[in-house]
Amino acid sequence: MSEAGQEPGRPILLTAPDELRGVTQEWRCQGHRVGLVPTMGALHRGHMALVAAARAAADRVVVSIFVNPLQFGPGDDYQRYPRNQAEDLLALAAAGVDAAYLPPTEAVYPNGFATSITVDSASADRWEGHFRPGHFQGVAVVVAKLFAATGPCSAFFGEKDAQQAALVTRLARDIDLGVQVVVCPVVRDPDGLALSSRNAYLDGSQRGAALCLNRALRAAALAFREGSRSGRHLSCLASQVIESEPAAKLDYAAVVDPISFVPQVEADGSSRLILAARVGGVRLLDTGVLAELATWGASGQDRA
Ligand code: PAJ
Repeated sequence: MSEAGQEPGRPILLTAPDELRGVTQEWRCQGHRVGLVPTMGALHRGHMALVAAARAAADRVVVSIFVNPLQFGPGDDYQRYPRNQAEDLLALAAAGVDAAYLPPTEAVYPNGFATSITVDSASADRWEGHFRPGHFQGVAVVVAKLFAATGPCSAFFGEKDAQQAALVTRLARDIDLGVQVVVCPVVRDPDGLALSSRNAYLDGSQRGAALCLNRALRAAALAFREGSRSGRHLSCLASQVIESEPAAKLDYAAVVDPISFVPQVEADGSSRLILAARVGGVRLLDTGVLAELATWGASGQDRA
């Protein structure tokens, strides 16, 4: 066993906030920078890209795997959310993660837990917040608890959930959590589908239909590249692409300010296109900054 009881090559397994705090406290005393990657498991290359970014930026990396009941609504997929703990732990070991935090629900929300956190309600009630009432309050609570127990220098989130990343950035700043929130690019399959744990729910034809989100990004990007700056026009183009896919049901397509997520009348290079649609009942998100999407070539080589 090496320092803090760690077997070389395997992450330390932790299941209680105090255990996690004890381990990271020791690391901090030794002068190590701690990086945190919060996840709900069913790990894929998108999650592992966050782990790689954390490994590059920090001396010790903690990955949390916790399917957070507070961020799921009554009709959501909490019960059937994919759970692959054994495979996840193998992936974390192979990636050189130092500690895996897998608390049971009662360790995170013991009897009597009664605190809520509302982050920027104007923004949190739009888009994902509108379609999933209470979702971001649940995310804010669990992320605040993970930050408090881990005490990381930096925490790594994916751009795919851009509204979540913006809200977490604001949470960390507004209440002086002292955590640098790092947002990492969307990781895609070679055909352009953004990776998501929920892609596991899709059958072959649904997976094909899900590619309409990527086509929608490309349609708006092409128009932006050709000079269109109307937020309404660009979001309509993206909507039409998704609506022309019979198996997809559009929730929203919008061109928004990248920080406030307020819709923009006039887009510029920093504007973000956000998309959400359901395919076979599976909710899928995709997004990109218009200026970055506009650099995508027509060949499809750069969609991954
Ligand atoms: P989860 O969906 O497991 O995602 C964990 C992190 O991985 C999030 O920051 C998410 O944006 C990122 N991620 C997912 N797919 C990605 C992709 N294709 N490319 C890059 N990053 C990707 O998001 C959550 O869990 C939860 O809400 C959580 C933050 C853990 C709080 O419970």
